[in-house]
Amino acid sequence: MSKDWQIENFPDVRNNQLHIDGVSAVELANAHGTPLFVFSERRIRHNIDRLKRAGQVIDRPLKLCYAAKAMSTIGILRAVKDADCDIEVNSGGELYKALEAGFRGDQIIFNGTSKEIWELEGAIDAEIYAIQVDSVVELAMIEETAKRLSKRANVSLRLVPEIESATHHGLQTALLTSKFGMMPDEALECFRQYKDSPHIDLAGIHLHIGSQNPSPGAYAEALEVLFVNLHKIYNETGLALSHINLGGGFPVNYVANDEVANSFTDDRREMLSADFEPKDAIGNAWQTMRRAAESANAAHLLENITLLLEPGRSIIADAGVLLTSVRNIKQRPIARTEECDNRPLTTDHWLLTDAGFNLTLSMVTYNWYYHLVSASRAGEEHDFAYKLAGPLCDGGDVYFDIEGSGRLPSHRRLPRGVELGEILALLNCGAYTLSQASQYNSRALPAVVLVRTNGKPELIRRRDELKDLLLNEIY
Ligand SMILES: Cc1ncc(COP(=O)(O)O)c(C=O)c1O
Repeated sequence: MSKDWQIENFPDVRNNQLHIDGVSAVELANAHGTPLFVFSERRIRHNIDRLKRAGQVIDRPLKLCYAAKAMSTIGILRAVKDADCDIEVNSGGELYKALEAGFRGDQIIFNGTSKEIWELEGAIDAEIYAIQVDSVVELAMIEETAKRLSKRANVSLRLVPEIESATHHGLQTALLTSKFGMMPDEALECFRQYKDSPHIDLAGIHLHIGSQNPSPGAYAEALEVLFVNLHKIYNETGLALSHINLGGGFPVNYVANDEVANSFTDDRREMLSADFEPKDAIGNAWQTMRRAAESANAAHLLENITLLLEPGRSIIADAGVLLTSVRNIKQRPIARTEECDNRPLTTDHWLLTDAGFNLTLSMVTYNWYYHLVSASRAGEEHDFAYKLAGPLCDGGDVYFDIEGSGRLPSHRRLPRGVELGEILALLNCGAYTLSQASQYNSRALPAVVLVRTNGKPELIRRRDELKDLLLNEIY
């Protein structure tokens, strides 16, 4: 029977085992050990093609820039580049990786609130498509740096236009209360001040609503705001910009089935199970903006415009799974009788895995939900309630909401009789996981396998060895 979390070939069930693009997850775990991240190049391409369809519903070019912070292992960046997608970086480190992966300067844009001079130098030197300027102060730093290097820096100004999204607070980025960007009036002042600078090319304006944004209508609101600013900048400075950047934030449905959905409050369900076609949201937003431009007699301002998008999660989240082994099992009486699936529970069956919040940080910071299945027995009924936890010496390293506020289910359902060594898989685990991982408890960072489009698994990151834990220590 088909499982509700199955998507095309990835992931699916064959011979009772989880398969990733036709490759057995259990065999991969046996070959490379756990914890292990496994990515599908086919799924990455599928996701990029899906986003590129937004280019078919606008009458101007679309430039897609993968948000590298979602997952920046070089093998993944190369797979993204080979799928004909450009890149958005957030630090000198990500810029270095992007260049190392083979991206050209004109394929790179650079965000960030606290850029250092060496990072600006690197970006200007690589002649990147745009440095997204976060403040008036930063723009002065960029001009000074470009002047010293006898270069011209391409810039785009990041706005905070007060657009609210129903995502997690930590993922909201377009509010005045957030730490990002500048107010539209400050940006206008920058355009006035720097429009004749020989070292600054004022190319565009940018905003990013937030990540896992459940509302397609927010893109229309955002694009309208960008147009209003584009128009104002033109009227007050005579500058016609060459791009507008709508950021990323397209959601991924993390909720595998109705049972899981019903365990969440309405707002969390809306956020975690959000699902809409980027093409539809962008098409609608573009039409809204076009109408605004036409009624303002300013459609000419769109003639030379390129639309940029910076999706991260929607490219990589469902292209990755995290395989983990059960390393310990225990049973414990529950002091007060709990209900799970309308059954009274008197005993908790604990499974202790080798993947904790050192690998899935957002499970504790944002109580993020990753659906769990047995990779060893993927085809069996997942109807037994377990309490799951990771390996860290930290009471918060659990797969449920430790504060008991119900933001995560208190139990996970797996087949009966899970044994030591059984391989489990956390699905949709490709975004904001390994890129946020730490060596907390001196735990080695895991290996990463990428299943190529030809169905061959390729190791793109080896597991850290013990000596890697001491790599930069002086003793
Ligand atoms: C400026 C910017 N662009 C793009 C992204 C990528 O967002 P997502 O991964 O939700 O597409 C983020 C993440 O929050 C961001 O801050």
